[in-house]
Amino acid sequence: MPAPHIRRARSEDEQPLRRIDLETWSPLHAVSPPPGPDDPFFRDVCGPDAHLVAELHGTVVGYVRLGFPTPLASNTHVRQIRGLAVADAARGHGVGRALVRAAVEEARQEGFRRITLRVLGHNTAARKLYESEGFVVEGVQPEEFHLDGRYVDDVLMGQMLTGPDGPAEGALTT
Ligand SMILES: CC(C)(COP(=O)(O)OP(=O)(O)OC[C@H]1O[C@@H](n2cnc3c(N)ncnc32)[C@H](O)[C@@H]1OP(=O)(O)O)[C@@H](O)C(=O)NCCC(=O)NCCS
Repeated sequence: MPAPHIRRARSEDEQPLRRIDLETWSPLHAVSPPPGPDDPFFRDVCGPDAHLVAELHGTVVGYVRLGFPTPLASNTHVRQIRGLAVADAARGHGVGRALVRAAVEEARQEGFRRITLRVLGHNTAARKLYESEGFVVEGVQPEEFHLDGRYVDDVLMGQMLTGPDGPAEGALTT
């Protein structure tokens, strides 16, 4: 399996990304109901610019969605991973890792101080991936969600991207 090609999403990725979201939906990682067949993938507040996609042999097989934890001006130094999915058939070949690594690297290059995410406690695969890419558990909200008949923890993870004195070397500050 070749290394996946990671690039910024484009509007024409709408169909493959919608398919991936429909195919991969599961209470293992999703807290919202499954998307309807006609629900758009890209939205006004979360368009192609907010996504990196992974391609294998020219086919889009996964994405990572990036945003901010809150809309507050005081919170704009923090990047957040707000979605990650890899098509079932492409799993286990390093696509998820390549997407997370690219997201972290982009945030570092753009001068963000921190990158964070939320992951369900029972999502072992995603938690292992994030831990192995430098994220640490910063908090746990016990039994935050009731999914598929069970209470599930919400795990807050994050990593610093800069040293205590400012942006990491090479970061583009704004
Ligand atoms: C989590 C997910 C993105 C991983 O994608 P992937 O392309 O299969 O992951 P990779 O092949 O890059 O694996 C990277 C690491 O993740 C962990 N991992 C992946 N699948 C795993 C599994 N089934 N069980 C345990 N660990 C797993 C391992 O640590 C792995 O490293 P290794 O190969 O050195 O052991 C994918 O399973 C997925 O789309 N899941 C559904 C959506 C989801 O859970 N998103 C996260 C929301 S917070």
